[in-house]
Amino acid sequence: MFRLALLTVFTFIFQSNADFFPPQFNISLDVKPEQRWDPLIESFDKEFLRKSAADIINSAVPKWVYYAIQPIAASLEWFLPEPFAGEIYGLSKGFGLSVADGVILNLVYEFTPFCTSIIAQDSKGNIYHGRNLDYNFENILRNLTIDVHFTRSRKVAYTGTTFVGYVGLWTGQKPFKFTISADERDHGYWWENIIAALKNGSPVSWLIRKTLDEAEDFESAMLTLSKTPLIANVYYIVGGTKAKEGVVITRNREGPADIWPLDPLNGEWYRVETNYDHWTTPPPYDDRRTPAIKALNATGQENINLDTLFKVLSVHPTQNNSTVYTTVMSAAAPEKYRTEVRTIT
Ligand SMILES: *[C@@H]1O[C@H](CO)[C@@H](O)[C@H](O)[C@H]1NC(C)=O
Ligand SMILES: *[C@@H]1O[C@H](CO)[C@@H](O)[C@H](O)[C@H]1NC(C)=O
Ligand SMILES: *[C@@H]1O[C@H](CO)[C@@H](O)[C@H](O)[C@H]1NC(C)=O
Ligand SMILES: *[C@@H]1O[C@H](CO)[C@@H](O)[C@H](O)[C@H]1NC(C)=O
Ligand SMILES: *[C@@H]1O[C@H](CO)[C@@H](O)[C@H](O)[C@H]1NC(C)=O
Repeated sequence: MFRLALLTVFTFIFQSNADFFPPQFNISLDVKPEQRWDPLIESFDKEFLRKSAADIINSAVPKWVYYAIQPIAASLEWFLPEPFAGEIYGLSKGFGLSVADGVILNLVYEFTPFCTSIIAQDSKGNIYHGRNLDYNFENILRNLTIDVHFTRSRKVAYTGTTFVGYVGLWTGQKPFKFTISADERDHGYWWENIIAALKNGSPVSWLIRKTLDEAEDFESAMLTLSKTPLIANVYYIVGGTKAKEGVVITRNREGPADIWPLDPLNGEWYRVETNYDHWTTPPPYDDRRTPAIKALNATGQENINLDTLFKVLSVHPTQNNSTVYTTVMSAAAPEKYRTEVRTIT
C-alpha cells in the first residue's frame, strides 16, 4: 500500500506538468565545508548532474573563455574565500566533476537572466516576501532545484533555495530575523575580467549566504547588503519581521545606487522589482512589473498573505515558461517558507 502510494507520488511529479515541491536537505555548518554537502551527493544521480553541468557550461560559456579560465579556476583555493572554496571542492569531487568545472558552474549561475521579487506589508503590519526565479536552462534546473536548511547545533541557522552543485543563494530566510532575494541588474559579459572582479568583490549569491549567516537583524542585513563590494550590479530585496521592514536595494558593484523602502503610511504597501531600475519604465517587450502591480492592486492590502502573493507571482508574464521556481516567505513565520518548482504557464 505504502509503496503504491509512493509510486503514485513520483509518477505524479514526473509525468504531469503540475508544479511540485523541490526536495529538501539539511546541510550542517558544523561539518567541514568539503564534506557538508555529502547528503546531497548521496541522493542525486551523478550522471545526470555531470551531463547537466556540461550542457550548461557549453551553452553559457564561450569555448575560448572556458579554456582561458580553466587553469585559474582549478586553483580556486588561491582566490576564493571559505567556506565556498571548500564546498565547491567537496561537491566537485563528490559528483565527479573537475574542480575547474565546479568553479565555472558556480560562476555561470551567478547570472540569472530574469527574476521578479515582491515585498509587501498587510494591513496588520505583517511582512511577506516572494520571488520568481527565471532562467534559460529552465528544463534542467527544474530537476536540480532544492530547498536547503543550513543547520548549526541541530537548529536551522538559515534556509535557502538553490540548484544542486551551486553553493550560493538567490533566495533565503533567517528565521525570525529577515528574508532576502536578489534579481539580476547586470547584463554585461560576465566573463570579462571575472578573475579581477573576484579579487575586488563578492559574488552576489555568496553575500546573501554570508548575510544570512552573520547579520543579526533586518537593519544589519540591509547595511551588509548595501555596502559590501560585489562582482556585479544587482537588486537585493530584503524583508524583516516588523511593519515597514521591507526594502529594495539597487546595487552598483562598489555600493548602493538607491534604497527604496516600503512606505505604508503613504499607501505604498508593496514594492515590485524585476530587472530594471524602479525609477525607469521597463521595456514593452519585457514588462513583468505592470502585471504584478495590477495583481497586487486587485488583491488589496487587507488580503495580502503568502497564498495571495503566490498567486500574484503566478500571473503571466510575471510567471512564464522560463520560471524555474517561485518562493514565498515571511521571516516572522519561518515554517511557512515554501518553494514550488513551476512548469508551464
Ligand atoms: C527531469 O527529471 C525527470 C525524471 O527523472 C526526467 O523524466 C526528465 O527528462 C528530466 N528533465 C531533463 C531536462 O533532464
Ligand atoms: C532537518 O533538521 C531538522 C532539525 O534538526 C529536523 O527536524 C528535520 O527532520 C531534518 N530534515 C531532514 C530532511 O533531514
Ligand atoms: C519569459 O520572460 C522573459 C522576460 O520577459 C523573456 O525574455 C523570455 O523569453 C520568456 N520566456 C518564455 C519561454 O516565454
Ligand atoms: C495600483 O494602485 C496604485 C495606488 O492606487 C495606483 O497609483 C497605480 O496606478 C495602480 N497601478 C496599476 C498598474 O494598476
Ligand atoms: C509554454 O509552453 C507550453 C508547452 O511547450 C506551450 O503550450 C505554451 O503555449 C507556452 N506558453 C507561453 C505563454 O509561451
